[in-house]
Amino acid sequence: MSKIHAAITAVNGYVPDYVLTNKELETMVDTNDEWITTRTGIKERRILKGEGLATSDLAAPAVKGLLKKRGISAEEIEVIVFCTSTPDMPFPATANILADKVGAINAWGYDLNAACSGFIFGLATGASFIESGRYKKVLVVGADKMSSIVNYEDRATCIIFGDGCGVVLLEPDTEGNGIIDSICKSDGSGREFLHQKAGGSLKPASHETVDNKEHFAYQEGKTVFKFAVTNMADVAAEVMERNNLTADDIQWLVPHQANKRIIDATIARTGVPPERVMVNIERYGNTTNGTIPLCLWEWESKLKKGDNLILAAFGGGFTWGSIYLKWAY
Ligand code: UT7
Repeated sequence: MSKIHAAITAVNGYVPDYVLTNKELETMVDTNDEWITTRTGIKERRILKGEGLATSDLAAPAVKGLLKKRGISAEEIEVIVFCTSTPDMPFPATANILADKVGAINAWGYDLNAACSGFIFGLATGASFIESGRYKKVLVVGADKMSSIVNYEDRATCIIFGDGCGVVLLEPDTEGNGIIDSICKSDGSGREFLHQKAGGSLKPASHETVDNKEHFAYQEGKTVFKFAVTNMADVAAEVMERNNLTADDIQWLVPHQANKRIIDATIARTGVPPERVMVNIERYGNTTNGTIPLCLWEWESKLKKGDNLILAAFGGGFTWGSIYLKWAY
């Protein structure tokens, strides 16, 4: 029997309506459109507004749309890997909440937290369920309501992040398409440069942690940039080299959208020409776990069966990774 690969058989995305522009940020912090655009490539990002709305509310419409596109029912979903750094609550898992909201009554699932590399880690682990032969329909969700942990008084972070969700369905493929190879890496000593200080077991929430604004994302941007720029590019090159792929073999490079300058370094390292690189950072900013599946969603109509895609990300942890996949439809 030919090898089972986990193929993406459907993709969908959801971004909230509210558009937070660089112009509006100029009224909130000491910044300007020119600085944000030249340093990051971001022009605007989406924000989920409204009481009682959480990360699962970004994912639910994305999943419902995906099921409709694929023509399957929620009951057919077996596993949900929910990649997020902004779960609805510390527990239970957002995967469980999502399953309830979409009616995936036969699914079990869990949250996966690898910051901006979450979707790569989720796709790699979700693929293993399919490759084992035990499961046939696995959802991998990448979603974050970053606005819930962004300090809109901190100009160094509030300009970067946005809210959004992308989701893919993994199913078995025996034609040679699907996820062919993955590299996932982490180095926990990098945690000091990008993290949320309070709200975990190390520093539970208290009046003091709230007063000190320790429930927001903290980032030492320059250091993170330095690690991101080399590691994301290197890991993309590594997965290409070990599969004997050159830039000519790659139809699409799908980089995590953290900063246009980091994306450009990955373009330079891999040699994939810019017209074959998915970039939508100018419209969504860094949606953390959402960036890569949102790109796949927006470029879906251009993708052809058998296309070679390289996905790559770098994020808090530090975590980083890359996936080589062949598009299956
Ligand atoms: O996806 C997860 C991983 N995260 C990343 O990959 C993010 C990596 N880091 C970055 O993308 C960049 O470091 C930032 C976009 C966050 C910052 O860009 P930078 O070129 O590294 O700027 P910087 O932090 O070195 O700051 C340069 C200057 C500073 O002023 P002084 O000290 O030179 O006077 C900052 O205070 O720019 C100032 N600055 C700003 N000025 C206007 C910082 N933020 C802003 C701002 N508007 N929003």
